Amino acid sequence: MQTVHSLDPLRKEVARLRETGTLALVPTMGALHEGHLTLVREARARAAHVAVSIFVNPLQFGAGEDLDAYPRQLERDCALLAAEGVDLVWAPGVDAMYPQGFSTNISVSGVSEGLCGAQRPGHFDGVATVVCKLFHQVLPDVALFGEKDWQQLAVIRRMARDLDLTRPHAGDIIGVATVREADGLAMSSRNAYLTPRERTQAASLPAAMKTAISAIEAGEDVAAAIASLEAGLVAGGFASVDYVRLCDAESLAPLERRSARPMRLLAAARIGKARLIDNMAVAPAAC
Ligand code: PAF
Repeated sequence: MQTVHSLDPLRKEVARLRETGTLALVPTMGALHEGHLTLVREARARAAHVAVSIFVNPLQFGAGEDLDAYPRQLERDCALLAAEGVDLVWAPGVDAMYPQGFSTNISVSGVSEGLCGAQRPGHFDGVATVVCKLFHQVLPDVALFGEKDWQQLAVIRRMARDLDLTRPHAGDIIGVATVREADGLAMSSRNAYLTPRERTQAASLPAAMKTAISAIEAGEDVAAAIASLEAGLVAGGFASVDYVRLCDAESLAPLERRSARPMRLLAAARIGKARLIDNMAVAPAAC
């Protein structure tokens, strides 16, 4: 496994790997957990070679967010990736990714604007900008992202379609199902911020979402199901709920009632020092 920190060696290594087969990219911010390793395993099944990027991207953190506190553990991450048979780790410093004078911004309107986009202005511009750069740097045939960040996946797919990207094509941007702890909590590097008590309470988020989804699928009023979910989270130890919304799975347009198209229930809520997000599929209504 090669670990490179600047663009010239990256390009050489990418060219060398591409001579002998296809290349998959798993973009990450490090602090790897089983969710990331599942993406790596899926990448290995889809391409001859696997590259993983590790870059805590300052552009996607707002003022007062956890950029400085975000866990950084490159040595441990590289050991995990070597054990998974990864070929290449791209771990640039901030100066290599954003040299002096960098001034381009990619903004994907519509799908970026609601949900986390409304709570975290500029966040998805930062994501779209760095992912577009990563795609151009690594030129992957396929790229894999966790479905836990459903809105991020929708933004990246929209960007790839709108900009006619070819490496990868929008259709080769693969969403991989959320990996969960035994009690249902979605795996996230930010779960590390939780105290043991908060960690136990945090599992009420996926549980409450499942209850709300069953109610919605049984025909209960969407607003009532969401209101009771939100009240349950606060009663169960969450400090506040940023949003809970039923949305069209692709456009993320909010829905007041079940539709016949694929839908997701998406939620973000705060507990202790963590802001947790989750999303789950809701079965479409029969036409
Ligand atoms: O999901 C993440 O870890 C990040 O948002 C990503 C896609 C690596 C971009 O920085």
